[in-house]
Amino acid sequence: MGETRCLYPGSFDPVTVGHMDIISRAAAMFDEVVVGVLHNPEKKGCFPVEKRVEMLKKACREMPNVRVIAYGGLLAQLTKEENIRVVVRGVRTAADLESETMMAHVNRQLNPALETVFLPASPGFAEVSASMVRQLAQFGAPLSAYVPLQALPDVAAAFQQMK
Ligand code: PNS
Repeated sequence: MGETRCLYPGSFDPVTVGHMDIISRAAAMFDEVVVGVLHNPEKKGCFPVEKRVEMLKKACREMPNVRVIAYGGLLAQLTKEENIRVVVRGVRTAADLESETMMAHVNRQLNPALETVFLPASPGFAEVSASMVRQLAQFGAPLSAYVPLQALPDVAAAFQQMK
């Protein structure tokens, strides 16, 4: 039987236009996309998890089959709890493919029912990453090409506060 739901996991610290590219393409392929903000409760990211979820929810508002959740544990455990058997990951470079393949193997060892599907970043998105956005934001560079419109004010405000 075909799969109707998928999990798109990530740190989303913060959400980028590259993430939105993958989310919108996954939303066109699956009945439901669960976007999982996976975080290690012992590690502090740049944005609080609640803020990352809030920005994603704003950016995905127009996509009715996308649900955003936060999870502080193993991806494999989340897929078991949500009864999801497909994980979608975006791949930008050959280096990405290598590390993502390793991650897919580990996840499948932990949950043998799981398949990981790789989507190549659309042209123009290969250079976009959350770490690059954080660096640009730190130095006050324009972010509109990299951060979805709905999340721009939150990202700008957070870095303004850090100054
Ligand atoms: O956006 P990122 O930082 O590339 O996402 C990486 C993420 C969050 C998907 C990955 O680190 C992850 O799955 N973390 C949860 C912990 C886990 O399950 N680790 C085992 C997989 S190797």
